Amino acid sequence: MAFTLAQRTQRMNSSAIREILKVTERPGVLSMAGGLPAPESFPIEAIQVACDQVLSTQGAVALQYATTEGLPPLREWIARRLSQGGWPVDASQVLITTGSQQGLDLVGKVMLDEGSPVLVEQPTYLGALQAFAPYGPVFQPWAADALGPLPQTLSETTPARLAYLVPSFQNPSGHCIGDARRREIAFQAERSNTPVVEDNPYGELWFDQPPPPPPPLATHAPEQVIYLGSFSKVLAPGLRVGYIVTPRGDHPGTQALRAKLLQAKQASDLHTPALNQRIIVQLLESGFDLEAHLVTVRARYRAQRDAMAAALSQCLPQGCTWQLPQGGMFFWVTCPDHIDTLQRLPQAVEAGVAYVPGASCYAGDAVPPVNTMRLSFVTLSPAQIDEAVARLARCLF
Ligand SMILES: Cc1ncc(COP(=O)(O)O)c(C=O)c1O
Repeated sequence: MAFTLAQRTQRMNSSAIREILKVTERPGVLSMAGGLPAPESFPIEAIQVACDQVLSTQGAVALQYATTEGLPPLREWIARRLSQGGWPVDASQVLITTGSQQGLDLVGKVMLDEGSPVLVEQPTYLGALQAFAPYGPVFQPWAADALGPLPQTLSETTPARLAYLVPSFQNPSGHCIGDARRREIAFQAERSNTPVVEDNPYGELWFDQPPPPPPPLATHAPEQVIYLGSFSKVLAPGLRVGYIVTPRGDHPGTQALRAKLLQAKQASDLHTPALNQRIIVQLLESGFDLEAHLVTVRARYRAQRDAMAAALSQCLPQGCTWQLPQGGMFFWVTCPDHIDTLQRLPQAVEAGVAYVPGASCYAGDAVPPVNTMRLSFVTLSPAQIDEAVARLARCLF
């Protein structure tokens, strides 16, 4: 049967890398490619207890259809937590989504037309490019210096329909934008009236204490920022629970945005699984110590980050550079110019190691640098990290 597919499917990129990386599931391959949180960090027993409690005390409602906005106590918990961090949020601003990935898709669906300019960091989160691309935007590289994206770009270039940013421990670069730069970006976003989509799945995963990462960009530009959050890296990604926080206030534009996001979500999946939302509420309200859990996750990831930093310094030749990530899950390594990391990936997989070639994380017309790669440090043990980096060094250099 020859199916006629919609034009937009041509913009859905079948990722060559994903195909190669399928091989990484083969036993013996040490993969630093996946963006998967450490399974040892999942609070499985606590989730099991919460799940039992939900099913035994609220089983019928938990398994019934639910409202599109999300469970009120979960929306309230999120609003309270963000407010405690210094950004006053009301539960009415919170829309529960099926992972923050759905948040990206919904934002794309309601905000982007064919040809809409969208400013993106270079490199940026590949999943955001995949979510936005079917709506036909024109991706514009957001110029940056060592501190992060340049604020003035927001007012100097063609006004963007939206600017997409991962300010804390970015995927893939690991970079965290400092407070002063955030303030400047917020100021310029307001001045140029550019909506900023702040995607923050990694903000809680900071390592070097104190200080924690700067407050969300949304704190500095509450009218301008559409904020995406997620329980994936804090609890477990299989729960598929994330959220969008729309700007506060009753400006007609804000109300329209909220209404359209809700309608788009309704059309997409009616609601995020009520069972999963209730499990999270039960967990958070029944004495599970989220702070203690986060302390454990941060300590685990910090040890893995340190192991990778040591292995990179020991094994990679001169000419390779990287920054020490202060949080999140990734190192971003730049190799000497002649190393094409995409071209070398099959050979690396053959040698039993995998990474994400950096070129896939760039958008726009410019030819991306071919000599970069993203290495995740959270799924392998320190001993496996040593071995993985040693294999990488042997087969690439
Ligand atoms: C920057 C960024 N945004 C969004 C997501 C999607 O996360 P989820 O849908 O699990 O909340 C990820 C996942 O790795 C990510 O790295």
